Formats: sequence, C-alpha cells, structure tokens
Amino acid sequence: MRFKFSLEKVSKYPLEATLEDILTLLSCSKKESYFLFKKADALRKEHWDKKIFIRGIIEISNICQNHCLYCGLREKNKNIKRYKMNLEEIIKASQDIFNKGIKTVVLQSGESQAYSRDEIIFLLEQIKKKTKLSITLSLGVKSYEDLELFKRAGASRYLLKHETSDKTLFSKLCPFKNLEQRLDCLKQLKNLGYKIGSGMMVGLPSQTDSILAKDILLLQKMQVFMAGIGVFIPHEATPLAKYKAGSFLKSLKVLAITRLILPKAYLPATTAMASIAPYGLIWALKSGANAIMPNMTPLEYRSLYSIYPGKIGVFLNPEDNWQRIKNLILALDYTWN
Ligand code: 5AD
Repeated sequence: MRFKFSLEKVSKYPLEATLEDILTLLSCSKKESYFLFKKADALRKEHWDKKIFIRGIIEISNICQNHCLYCGLREKNKNIKRYKMNLEEIIKASQDIFNKGIKTVVLQSGESQAYSRDEIIFLLEQIKKKTKLSITLSLGVKSYEDLELFKRAGASRYLLKHETSDKTLFSKLCPFKNLEQRLDCLKQLKNLGYKIGSGMMVGLPSQTDSILAKDILLLQKMQVFMAGIGVFIPHEATPLAKYKAGSFLKSLKVLAITRLILPKAYLPATTAMASIAPYGLIWALKSGANAIMPNMTPLEYRSLYSIYPGKIGVFLNPEDNWQRIKNLILALDYTWN
C-alpha cells in the first residue's frame, strides 16, 4: 500500500516528494520495482516520446591529481600509462562526431592542470569554429574565472558529479576533496548560465538508502539539466578492490525514481550500468533513461581511461561503437537526436 501511495504521489507531484516517499520506493520488492520502472518509462515517453539524446564523449586525458578511493585513475595508481590527447587530435575527434550527425560533444578528463586555461579556450574556439556542436565540459572543479572564460569560448554545459551527497562518506572516499566546494562549483556554473549535470554512484561502501534518497533530492534541489547515475564497480588497483560491486537492481531503482522526480531531465544510460549487467543499457533505457553517451575516444587511448574494470566498448573503434548503438536504438524502435 505504502509503495503504491508513494509511487503515485512522486510521479504526480515530484516537488512534494519526501525522503520517506523515496525510501519507500527504494526499498520496494523486485516485483514492485517493475511497476516503478514502467512508471518511469511512461513519464520518459510522455515528455520525450521515442527520442534518445546522443552525446559523443571524448576522454581527453586520464591524468588526475585526486585520490578518490574508488577510481582507477587516482593519482596513486602507477600501473596505468597516463595520456593527454593533443589539441589537434581532440578537434579531429570532435569533427568526426559532428560528421556522424551527433549534436553534442562531452570533453572529459581527470581533475588536473594537464591542460592550461589557454589550451582549453583554444580548443573550445576551434571546435565552435569547425563544427556546430554543443560542448559539454567535464573537467572537475575549476575556478570561477576559468569557468567564465570557458563559457565565453563556447562551452554551454558542465558535468560535475557530486558522487555522494553525504559529507562524511564523501570525505572518506575523496580525501583532500571537499563536497562543499563541489556543490559551490555547481552553483557557480548555474550562475554563469551553464546547463549543469551532476550525479552519483550507487553501491558505494557504507552507502545507505537514506544517503541515496538524499542524493536524489539533491538533484531535484539543484534542478539539474542532466544526471548521470552510475553503479560502483571495484577496481583492482584501488583501496576498494575487495569491496562488492553495487547492485544493478538498486541502480535501476535510483534511475527510475530520479525520472519521477525530474521528469524532463537528460538521464543517460551510463556506461557503468551498461557494463555491470547483461542488457544493462536496454534496462536503463526502459527504466527512465533517455540519453546515451557513446565513447568516441580514439581506440589507442580508450583502454587507458580505466576508471573501473569491464568497461564496455573498450575494444571498439568509435565507428563500430556508434554503429552498435545506432543498431540498438533502431531495434528498440527509438529515434536519436
Ligand atoms: N565504479 C563506478 N563508477 C566510477 N567512477 C569512478 N570510479 C568508479 C568506479 N569504481 C565514476 C565517477 C566519476 C565518473 C567519471 O566515473 O562517478 O564521476
């Protein structure tokens, strides 16, 4: 009964959703969860019909100065070869994305000073000059001044996952980083007129349903334009190597509830969700997701961007990967934009 009540309430009046409602939905049985997924799918359909949004992602550098306990790119992992794509390579990869008919590129890297402010500005100006792509940046926390200049040079969206909304968990998992600072950066991005994206991982060690419910409410409070919901996958070269991976079912629930709370948001079927379960991408697309971010990183760099093991598409070149995704969209009788 409580499940039915919360499901109806949250899908009709998302702004009135309480922590309690979200907790009820999160703790629903597997059988009940199919109703949740169906509801989320119906809401996605109501707003977006058959349209799936495509954002080509280029992982421009795996250099990272951070020490996040979950991430394979953490600075202390000396077992991976670090790379920094040169500007011409990035511009060429962006042109290739544009020539495929894709309208948005996401430039993502570890958090570092690997690229100077001027290099990023040059990159943005060149991509804008040579293509009609919308540009999303995902480069971690940057100064207000940098963000303002990047906006002026052509970036219009910024993806900065809050990772977890729980201060204590955040400081345990991300030593030397600060949740407040990350949330401040998201506010600054919004003030500068960026469309902001955030998101979190499901299944982190010591994470509770209550934390996940607060993650979802935080996305609502920030009124994000996009939210990436991943699932924790342990990486062998990190201090969390021995922990269990997050539950796929729980991540689907989180995705579906986020759709109810943010009916119009861009919610990608994330690579982590696609990697952890058979047909993970399809499940996500049928449970509220309305976007896919095909990996367009040149093949030579792809396997080096190893945030977690078993990442799908690592051995496919951008053309084959894109073809695979187009076939899937066609098979599901969706269209892409
Ligand atoms: N499992 C799943 N997702 C991860 N990320 C980093 N490490 C892992 C992991 N072990 C995610 C974070 C980050 C994004 C680039 O990858 O959410 O923001």
